[in-house]
Amino acid sequence: PNPNPNPNPNPNPNPNPNPNPNPNPNPNANANPTPRSARSCMRHGLLLLSLSRSLGPARSLATATATMYHAVVYDRRAPEGVVVVEKNVPKAVRRGHVLVRVKACGVNPVDAKYCVGDKLPEALPEGFRRWTVQGGGVGFDLAGVVEALPPSAGEACDGFRVGDAVFGSMPPLKASFAELAEVPTHQLAAMPEGLSFPEAAALPLVGTTAMQALRHRHGLSEGQRVLIIGASGGVGSVAVQVAKDLVGAGGHVAAVCSARNHEMVKGLGADAAYDYTQGLDKLMEELSERYREAPLDLVLDCVSSLEAKDRVFDYNARVHAAGILKREPNTSGSRSNYIVIGGGFGDWFRALMFRTAGINCFGGSHELFWIVFPHSRPVLDELKAAVERGALRAFIEEVPVDGFAAVEPVREAFRRLHG
Ligand SMILES: NC(=O)c1ccc[n+]([C@@H]2O[C@H](COP(=O)([O-])OP(=O)(O)OC[C@H]3O[C@@H](n4cnc5c(N)ncnc54)[C@H](OP(=O)(O)O)[C@@H]3O)[C@@H](O)[C@H]2O)c1
Repeated sequence: PNPNPNPNPNPNPNPNPNPNPNPNPNPNANANPTPRSARSCMRHGLLLLSLSRSLGPARSLATATATMYHAVVYDRRAPEGVVVVEKNVPKAVRRGHVLVRVKACGVNPVDAKYCVGDKLPEALPEGFRRWTVQGGGVGFDLAGVVEALPPSAGEACDGFRVGDAVFGSMPPLKASFAELAEVPTHQLAAMPEGLSFPEAAALPLVGTTAMQALRHRHGLSEGQRVLIIGASGGVGSVAVQVAKDLVGAGGHVAAVCSARNHEMVKGLGADAAYDYTQGLDKLMEELSERYREAPLDLVLDCVSSLEAKDRVFDYNARVHAAGILKREPNTSGSRSNYIVIGGGFGDWFRALMFRTAGINCFGGSHELFWIVFPHSRPVLDELKAAVERGALRAFIEEVPVDGFAAVEPVREAFRRLHG
């Protein structure tokens, strides 16, 4: 198997491309916008679609002329499982939501893995698993401009005003891959100063996962030692930065990724980087030599899971066998310091039990962390603060696409993720 889901061997030739010449987007600044060509941006296994409309004057629904907008939805019979449909612009925005004109949206592996169906038992036919998301909207991450508020909101809805630049995520199957998105305000925050829309759209899902898992769930703190496996990927590249910010100069962040990405992850704050492409035996030898005497406090494994197809990597068993991970849990609520973010059905079921009933059925070998979208605004604010004090940046690379009127760019994004 090809261990590298990232089809582009050097996905980031430019460490900080800024496709938006205006670092502090003000939607009112350009009264007569010239449409720019649409783009997609690729960042270490994560594609970002940037829509074709440039910043324009903020409009309320009352003045908007269009009554329809394009959105991408799952269709199990279509190539790559997605089609573009036209939807009605809502007549009135629902309470607790704002209508966002989407300027860019991030593409994550979960989007191409059809989101919910891939969490069901592998024994079920793929057609059935795909059927469970049929017609559901594609995509979580977005950045854009608030276009309308609920009728009862007055000047502002939960602190958001028309014209505000925002970033956040849609609930599952509600489509961030759309020209307009009705976003719950508890999953939205003001965009970090100095980021372009594509850069901001790169952060919500991966940043929330890293921050919630490392800080909120597993209590990573100053002076601790953590290993990130898959450190150059979407989650991993943010996790390295979040981890370094949390452990500080006295802590230690170790990264596992391809040698070609070692400089990049060190630039993000990793204190040491290890190459997996030489084989797991050699990698484990290096890790054992370095961490057996002073074990790690946490491992965040963004690559392997107990799913059959991932067992080839076998990091979990090897890390435990090598004795390089502290045994006593880092926080009282957890049983394992080995965090995975992917799994087979059993793992997702245990994670669901833990979330809904508070019963932790994981053993000591690992725990599957699962992003919590509802009320993630404080976490988005933490990410914004980290960006603004220079502790966190997003990596993107743009490639031209045609926007959402045509579905092909989305299919191309999915092909790259599957590649
Ligand atoms: N549970 C949750 O809430 C949650 C949230 C977000 C994501 N996820 C899941 O987490 C996984 C990772 O997501 P992502 O966005 O980070 O994916 P990604 O951007 O594709 O990153 C994967 C990275 O893993 C590295 N890699 C591949 N094979 C490896 C190996 N054998 N050993 C070490 N590193 C290896 C690659 O690094 P090199 O290029 O350097 O080889 C690549 O950059 C996906 O399955 C996604 O669905 C789960």
